[in-house]
Amino acid sequence: MKISLETFQEIHNQIWKELGRATQDRHHTWRTPVLTTVGLDGSPNGRTVVLRRCDSHAGLFSIYTDSRSPKVAELKKTPQAQFVFWSTRLNWQLRVRAKVHILTTGALVESVWQQMRHTKSAGDYMTPQAPGASFPSANTHVDQENLDTYFAILQAEVVAFDWLELSRFGHRRAQFCDNTWQWVSP
Ligand SMILES: Cc1cc2nc3c(=O)[nH]c(=O)nc-3n(C[C@H](O)[C@H](O)[C@H](O)COP(=O)(O)O)c2cc1C
Repeated sequence: MKISLETFQEIHNQIWKELGRATQDRHHTWRTPVLTTVGLDGSPNGRTVVLRRCDSHAGLFSIYTDSRSPKVAELKKTPQAQFVFWSTRLNWQLRVRAKVHILTTGALVESVWQQMRHTKSAGDYMTPQAPGASFPSANTHVDQENLDTYFAILQAEVVAFDWLELSRFGHRRAQFCDNTWQWVSP
């Protein structure tokens, strides 16, 4: 479906609408963006993640992860990250520069975990081995009392959008930063 958007406000609103839809619709291609962080050695490190929550009013979206995963250590050191989304339906690429907050405690973490803890997905955050740990590990002991302590929410606070629309009538690209949109060369 081709969406005809003329104004920056329309583009801005549609971006947030699509991000919101992607958290609900398993088939939305924006559901699985690439999150790129700065590695501990300074090199870029990208990986696919699942978009879980979105709050357009606060300018936030979130993914869930294991607090032991290397990306969490990277984000602790450098909280700046880039998310890249591509949609074949929209013909849109969206690059998002974000400041990432790591939430491991608090009301939001607690309420999400309570909803999730008896589902299959909970297992992703309860493995005895940390993601990225060498395998097999000498220590495979499962601490049954603390199985839920590895769940974390990575909350991305949007700093900038780089929006690219591919079209046979001419590509369009616009950037949003400091509350201002501007057209740039595609
Ligand atoms: C389709 C897909 C979705 C994924 N979703 C997530 C996710 O939401 N959270 C996550 O931590 N890892 C997710 N992963 C795994 C990451 O891509 C990555 O392999 C893992 O988190 C380890 O990354 P790190 O070593 O850079 O921390 C997903 C992988 C794929 C292929």
